[in-house]
Amino acid sequence: MQANPIFNADLIRRYDKAGPRYTSYPTAVQFHGGFDEAQYRQQAAISNARGGPLSLYFHIPFCDTVCFYCACNKVVTKVRAKAQPYLDDVYREMALQSALFDRDRPVEQLHWGGGTPTFLSIEQMRELMGRTGEHFLLKTDDTGEYSIEIDPREANAGTVAVLRELGFNRMSLGVQDFDPKVQKAVNRIQSEAETLAVLKAARDEGFHGVSIDLIYGLPFQTVDSFLRTLDRVIEASPDRLSVFNYAHLPTRFMPQRRIKQEELPTPADKLSILESTIHHLTSAGYVLIGMDHFAKPDDPLARAQREGSLYRNFQGYATHAECDLVAMGVSSIGQVGDAFSQNVKDLETYHAMLTEGRLPIERGFVVNDDDKLRRAVITDLICHFELDGDAVGRRFGIDFGDYFANELQDLEPFIEDGLLTLEGNRIRILPVGRLMIRNICMTFDRYLDTSGERRFSRTL
Ligand SMILES: C[S@@+](CC[C@H](N)C(=O)[O-])C[C@H]1O[C@@H](n2cnc3c(N)ncnc32)[C@H](O)[C@@H]1O
Ligand code: SF4
Repeated sequence: MQANPIFNADLIRRYDKAGPRYTSYPTAVQFHGGFDEAQYRQQAAISNARGGPLSLYFHIPFCDTVCFYCACNKVVTKVRAKAQPYLDDVYREMALQSALFDRDRPVEQLHWGGGTPTFLSIEQMRELMGRTGEHFLLKTDDTGEYSIEIDPREANAGTVAVLRELGFNRMSLGVQDFDPKVQKAVNRIQSEAETLAVLKAARDEGFHGVSIDLIYGLPFQTVDSFLRTLDRVIEASPDRLSVFNYAHLPTRFMPQRRIKQEELPTPADKLSILESTIHHLTSAGYVLIGMDHFAKPDDPLARAQREGSLYRNFQGYATHAECDLVAMGVSSIGQVGDAFSQNVKDLETYHAMLTEGRLPIERGFVVNDDDKLRRAVITDLICHFELDGDAVGRRFGIDFGDYFANELQDLEPFIEDGLLTLEGNRIRILPVGRLMIRNICMTFDRYLDTSGERRFSRTL
């Protein structure tokens, strides 16, 4: 069992530099346009030869209104009629993709993300799941992990009942903050009643778990205001919580230009909000899983961490290790065989490529043995805060101490600062070091250079 993290503001400030969140290794920055459809097909063949269950991801990019902080890949529109032509393209993609995978591979995980998946009408959602079942082997006994991102402004008890009927058993609810002043500043007006109604409906319908998304670092947030939001969330008792750090990158994300810099909490305020959030949630019985996720101690995520089977993927922390991930829809990222691949991001190119009968792949990356080894190291560190280098060495047929001699030397400053211990080839992250886990993982990242500074967000 992991001890709660210890908060050391001086160290957090000192280690506050931009870095990846390691939802993949190598990170998406390494993906390149040289990866094409032919390579994807080869990787699908490798995937079939290995067999095993699949994970499916569908990206539904539409949102009715824009939230100014949003960094997701989305299309903001009030025109609901845009959804059907897009779905028609998704069906074209699904036909091409499903032809590449053996039909007997069960879909262990399925996720609809966005944008706002419930922008679709009930009929459209039924059809999407129905067609998925025609192309892939969906589990019908509720033992898969089938999850959906819900904006409570775009769902009600009726929607939730239909989603359950379609096979969903997990949902995450976008909340961000209950404070009306914060909501106004980010253009996301959402009453507590709307959120709680969806949460209650999920419970009534027998969803296995509900997660709530919050963001700290938004305009006008203070420690007191955010604790008030947390108290209301704790009362609602979700199984999991994601508390994301708002990264203000207005040059990259257009809508963020409508957020005024002077209305944002200072880095010192953000640090205080983070500290009190961790204290508040752990006092209320939640376990900090790592980075920005919290879960109740009996939640599968917390259990997986205790049992050493936690995994990290594009949706954050996950309980299922390495199902091959077939991703469909604009901008979606898949992981098949030994490769990552990402689809084109705009609707027009997506449509044009599918009309020509081509898979809409924009870029990707085939991992080599060194990438796999480093991925295993980073996954262990970021998920379990502990690494048995000798065990990893045996698994990959290398001498861990020799292979990572430089990296182990680079850990010295972390050891001196009390963030971790190194005994032989065993690395243990100490409670003080848990919040700096990204920095520690960066030691093992072969691709990092200073250009990364501009692409990644900072801790504060
Ligand atoms: C695709 S959105 C969730 C689904 C739905 N559209 C909604 O907003 O309720 C996924 C989550 O990403 C988080 N998010 C979006 N932009 C962010 C940003 N700039 N910084 C931190 N978190 C962000 C929000 O917490 C949001 O709930
Ligand atoms: S946070 Fe969700 S609803 Fe808001 S713009 Fe982003 S994807 Fe759309």
